[in-house]
Amino acid sequence: MSENEKSPLWGGRFGTTPAEAFERLNASIPFDVRLAPYDIRGSIAHAKMLGKQGIVSDEEAAELVRGLEAVLKEVEAGRFVWTLADEDVHTAVERRLREVAGDVALKLHTGRSRNDQIALDLHLFVRDAAERITEGVLAAMRAFVEVAQRHRDLILPGYTHLQRAQPILLSHHLLAHFEALKRDLRRLDAAREAANVSPLGAAALGGTPHPTDPALTAADLGMQPFSNSLDAVSDRDFALDLLYACAVLGVHLSRLGEEWVLWTSAEFGFATLDDAYSSGSSIMPQKKNPDAYELMRGKSGRLIGDLNTLLITLKGLPLGYSKDLQEDKEPLFDAVDAVLAMLAVLPEMLRTARFNGERMLGAAGGFALATELADFLAARGVAFREAHRAVGRLVRRCEELGVSLDEVPQEELKAAHPMLAELPMQLLTPQGSVENKRSAGSTAPGSVERKLAAAREFLDGILPG
Ligand code: ARG
Repeated sequence: MSENEKSPLWGGRFGTTPAEAFERLNASIPFDVRLAPYDIRGSIAHAKMLGKQGIVSDEEAAELVRGLEAVLKEVEAGRFVWTLADEDVHTAVERRLREVAGDVALKLHTGRSRNDQIALDLHLFVRDAAERITEGVLAAMRAFVEVAQRHRDLILPGYTHLQRAQPILLSHHLLAHFEALKRDLRRLDAAREAANVSPLGAAALGGTPHPTDPALTAADLGMQPFSNSLDAVSDRDFALDLLYACAVLGVHLSRLGEEWVLWTSAEFGFATLDDAYSSGSSIMPQKKNPDAYELMRGKSGRLIGDLNTLLITLKGLPLGYSKDLQEDKEPLFDAVDAVLAMLAVLPEMLRTARFNGERMLGAAGGFALATELADFLAARGVAFREAHRAVGRLVRRCEELGVSLDEVPQEELKAAHPMLAELPMQLLTPQGSVENKRSAGSTAPGSVERKLAAAREFLDGILPG
């Protein structure tokens, strides 16, 4: 190789090759090589367009496409070799293309820049990632519905301030997580749509004198074409959209994780994870730890960080490409990998978990039924505030007597409020409490049944991706 061929692709105006330390700092190839399949797909669309528009001959376009397909095969087979001197994925692919297809490779970059090229690669990556994460979220939603359906009769306390509040159906609780994930789908869809725009043809920032057709490459990739070349190379909103969707999804998984860490503790004892989804301690033989759920809690911090990283990278940048933008990739990859790893575990982990219905029910009675009494009085014309105070006094009395609300002597009930003499004792059970709910979207078994049916219908209506 001549000195000229060893120098970077932009080496024409430089008297010397880059210093090694600078080369290491400057290179994105160690992490952006995973964009190679997208980069090559974009290049194939670009080469075809160059041929159609007469910018290269049909024969040259065909040679470029053949060569790129050969390089893609190497990438897919894990046989693609890169070095730090390649600097980034675009250069690495172009270098390999030249080795495979010869000097025609030198024409591929006509009418484009690495600036629109990297923007395209990222758009394709984000579109793909949004689709894969959506599949993962749907799989988790299916598991929530299945488990909710299987355990329709289980009751646990709902909590506020982590204090037992009111009995609810376990299925109602699980379907609450289903609803959160359903909202995640909307955010993922918005990110997918934002990513579905091709920046190719914007060139460095202002377009190109060559008669390119950005709409042609966009259509080839199933995308919309950009409308402003400067915006096309500057925009990373689509990546922010995905990072935001991942961060919110991460927060949902984190809250779920926190619940399961509590539920699987000896103190709660509500659920047990299958051994396949737990790990042990290297010193304490009895330990069975809910690591996956802890990691969901832990990784959500990173996901929020990933979103922040890109926001902060972007906020000071003028329009047009700045090298800072190279920093957009690692947080994006980090977030996508983390979310996919968690979603790969969640559905089976949910399905294989066992619930301790007795423990749950035991925690759902007693004082968690106090609101039932207040509502009973209010339904009979006692002002709610007054009813609340009467039952509050009764709770205090029970504490003095050392009894729970469902063991309270009849005369104490009457003393708290005369109307409580007519209280049907069934109301003082977790079952009676949930069955007593009337409002839409409540934990009443009938209402939960309808929501389960709606959830199943929603999932059945989703076309396989
Ligand atoms: N490696 C670069 C990045 O990740 C590719 C774009 C380089 N463009 C440039 N003008 N140096 O952003």
